[in-house]
Amino acid sequence: MYEYKINMLLEKTIEFFKGDPKRIQHLMKVHYFSKLICNMENIDEHTKYITECSSIVHDIGIKPAEKKYGKCDGKLQEQEGPEIAKYILENLEFEKNDIERICYIVGHHHTYKNIDGLDYQILVEADFLVNFYEEQISQNSIKTVLDKIFKTNSAKSLCNIIYLNN
Ligand SMILES: [Fe+2]
Repeated sequence: MYEYKINMLLEKTIEFFKGDPKRIQHLMKVHYFSKLICNMENIDEHTKYITECSSIVHDIGIKPAEKKYGKCDGKLQEQEGPEIAKYILENLEFEKNDIERICYIVGHHHTYKNIDGLDYQILVEADFLVNFYEEQISQNSIKTVLDKIFKTNSAKSLCNIIYLNN
């Protein structure tokens, strides 16, 4: 059931970003890192499901932000994301409570204060693991983020292995 919903959401979100391979590659990578971290951490099935769904749609506010304001900084993505995520999730007949939680995470994923759950935490970690590479972030900045924001042992270990050679 969860896997079916996740695949439907992947298809719909890819369609939403059609013609934009860069963003589609990004969401596929963030989704898979989220899934991997959940598995490594032995997260319960429902939290894993919410984490995966949030990671698939996390950047969905980029398109409406660019259309309305001609830019898509983190704050605008958070502002514009939940409404469009809600629309897609409702169309796919997701549970009301799940929609609410996913939209909350989409609306806060660039905010690193008050991370109030493992679903939100793991999405943030997965997004960083991908962005460090895509945005060519320096080792020093990676170390700072690792220190200040990463919490799960699995994401810390992945970050060390991928970027810091230890
Ligand atoms: Fe992202």
